[in-house]
Amino acid sequence: MIKAALIAGARPNFIKIAALEKAFSDSGQFLNTLIHTGQHYDAKMSDIFFRQLGMPEPELFLGIGSGSHAAQTAAVMVETEKVFLANRPDVVVVVGDVNSTVATALTAKKMCIPVAHVEAGLRSFDPGMPEEINRIVTDAISDLLYVSEPSGLMHLKNEGVPDHKVVFAGNVMIDSLRRFEDKARATNYSESIGLNAGRYFLITAHRPAMVDNDVHLGTFARSLLGLAEMGDVVFPIHPRTSKRLESIGLAASLASNPRIRLTEPIGYLEFMNLMMHSGLIVTDSGGIQEESTALSVPCATVRPNTERPVTIEEGTNVLMNLDVGEITAAGEKALSGNWKKGRIPALWDGKAANRIAEHLANTLSTL
Ligand code: UD1
Ligand code: UDP
Repeated sequence: MIKAALIAGARPNFIKIAALEKAFSDSGQFLNTLIHTGQHYDAKMSDIFFRQLGMPEPELFLGIGSGSHAAQTAAVMVETEKVFLANRPDVVVVVGDVNSTVATALTAKKMCIPVAHVEAGLRSFDPGMPEEINRIVTDAISDLLYVSEPSGLMHLKNEGVPDHKVVFAGNVMIDSLRRFEDKARATNYSESIGLNAGRYFLITAHRPAMVDNDVHLGTFARSLLGLAEMGDVVFPIHPRTSKRLESIGLAASLASNPRIRLTEPIGYLEFMNLMMHSGLIVTDSGGIQEESTALSVPCATVRPNTERPVTIEEGTNVLMNLDVGEITAAGEKALSGNWKKGRIPALWDGKAANRIAEHLANTLSTL
């Protein structure tokens, strides 16, 4: 059996690791150790995903918590090193682009433990995005790079990564979506809270470039007021954003609009139900760009760039400037049924994690 350490720290990691944990277990070739760094720790940012995605409790919870980039990254390195010294895995599997990802990859690589990076090769080419640094560093030191969309193959080739390290495996986040889609539909969540299918806007925002800047966050809030003139607006608020909206006094003014519903972060199944029935998703999330494409739901990504270009080239995603007129025009277009239709990208078929399990089991001994 292969001893695999599966690392998860933040909300999007849990959804990806759930798919890998299942595929590795199903393959019968791995002994999984699920390690939660504790980067995200609120029940609604963490525990609920383990419950809803049918994952076992993490074997180890490192309790890292919040902090500056250096403090958080360093703390994950110190704690994962202790774990790997106590029980050395045969391979460390990291997903995505959060601080827990790069920190654990660095620890493992310096201990000469093979590292597999799932969702490798994505690039926004925006060095101001902390995730971009995490992606570049993680890919540079990983032994196996599992890619979710064709742009990833191209970037890794351009960066000189040898072909034998790179595998186009598909998208593990979409594995979880396909696995839980029926369950999410059956929650009837959007209907149960009185929303009309196809007529409301679903909002998320948490990128520092958007929410840590008073002017940007103010413009975003005004865009929501514009959308509220056309339909209900549902905004489950990330804790980073919630603190910022409170501190600049915008939470109260948004909440006073009867068509805007501000909520805490919500569970995966309920959130997927909100996505599948929404008229338009307005977001700066990475994963939601992919999920909206997989669900064929219109998505306006309020960012100057994306590391997930397949969602634009083939899917339902469109990049937007942070501009009230542009965002409200997107709302009008989506509600009038004129949004582009899109198609499902290659290998977003619910089986990416199985391909990774099979490849990893066959390849590890050759590293
Ligand atoms: C992190 C990732 C980002 C990812 C996002 C997913 C990095 C650099 N950033 O951003 O790539 O898109 O997760 O959601 O790794 N907080 C809480 N409770 C929690 C977690 C966070 O209150 O459970 C608050 C804290 O005030 C914290 C802030 O949110 O300081 C930011 O958390 P952090 O993990 O540093 O970054 P995110 O913005 O969540
Ligand atoms: N999500 C959720 N509840 C919410 C908001 C998001 O379950 O209230 C899910 C969403 O469906 C996606 C993931 O969280 O699977 C995306 O996480 P996030 O946007 O925080 O991170 P990113 O993908 O931008 O790194």
